[in-house]
Amino acid sequence: MNVIELNGVSKSFRDRVAVKEFNLQVEQGEVFGLLGRNGAGKSTTIKMMLGLIAPDKGNIRLMGRDLAQEHNRALERVGALVERPSFYEYLTGRKNLQVLARNFGSDLDRKSDELAERLGILNRLGDKVSTYSQGMRQKLGIVLSMLPDSRLVVLDEPTNGLDPQGIREVRQFIREFAEQGDVTVFLSSHLLSEVEQICTSLAVIDMGEVMVKGPISEMLKEENEVELQVGSVTRAVEIIQSVCESSVSEFPNNRLRLNLKSISAAELNRRLVNAGIEVSELRPVKRTLEEYFLHLTGEGSGG
Ligand SMILES: Nc1ncnc2c1ncn2[C@@H]1O[C@H](COP(=O)(O)OP(=O)(O)OP(=O)(O)O)[C@@H](O)[C@H]1O
Ligand SMILES: [Mg+2]
Repeated sequence: MNVIELNGVSKSFRDRVAVKEFNLQVEQGEVFGLLGRNGAGKSTTIKMMLGLIAPDKGNIRLMGRDLAQEHNRALERVGALVERPSFYEYLTGRKNLQVLARNFGSDLDRKSDELAERLGILNRLGDKVSTYSQGMRQKLGIVLSMLPDSRLVVLDEPTNGLDPQGIREVRQFIREFAEQGDVTVFLSSHLLSEVEQICTSLAVIDMGEVMVKGPISEMLKEENEVELQVGSVTRAVEIIQSVCESSVSEFPNNRLRLNLKSISAAELNRRLVNAGIEVSELRPVKRTLEEYFLHLTGEGSGG
């Protein structure tokens, strides 16, 4: 089932287009990353997904329910962190969670404590939020987003304002949350490396328009590029050059890389093995997302 569906969603502020014709499907279990630079339209998209602002055009469905028609039911099991989370400053962190979490289940306190502990703010839950640092507020907001037994968690720049250790904790936390299986995470970020480390799929938006979208694994697969590890480099290179016209790069530990031309990986493997060359590994080459975007744009404008 699609947990999130955007159909032709557009939004302008006066004559400034913030989001343009956004179509998107996110399936259950995905950790979806919305990537884009400042002002690209990430927060606007997220606010529309949460029913905080209405699109000018198009429609949004969450868990199969139309947000405009069934606002409350569509958002029933949805937790969110949008821009700067706002709390009751004069209440403690724990009290804020009690007041703001939408289900008042009996084990709310136990769950709050457990989540807070994993993010390293348990020892501060009894303090007033007015005494929190920015990073602590951010973490409290993340705890809150997951509290109402969320099936979909929407996080706008979840690692904003965190120190490197906090970023690691939050990343790990989001991954563990996603591993529960029947939950879905949608997050925004302006950092490629972050999306690469947490997400299964992504979309890149720029000036409100979707530039790229899809599973990260597909983006990282270099077309026809393979890496192999062989028993004898010299002989392997001879054979490769006799069966296809690829140029071969050599790497340490008897590793070779080449772009397959007019031959399949399986066929290349067969030729090498038939020639008595041991092939201990043959696999498609993955590249980093950054390389992928540089490759797409041809220069340094990765995100
Ligand atoms: N309330 C508003 N009134 C007018 N313009 C707005 C409003 N909210 C957003 N915009 C404009 O819409 C565009 C998209 O903004 P948005 O906040 O969605 O970007 P973003 O991708 O979240 O950026 P950032 O990384 O800086 O958070 C920007 O040009 C912004 O100036
Ligand atoms: Mg934003």
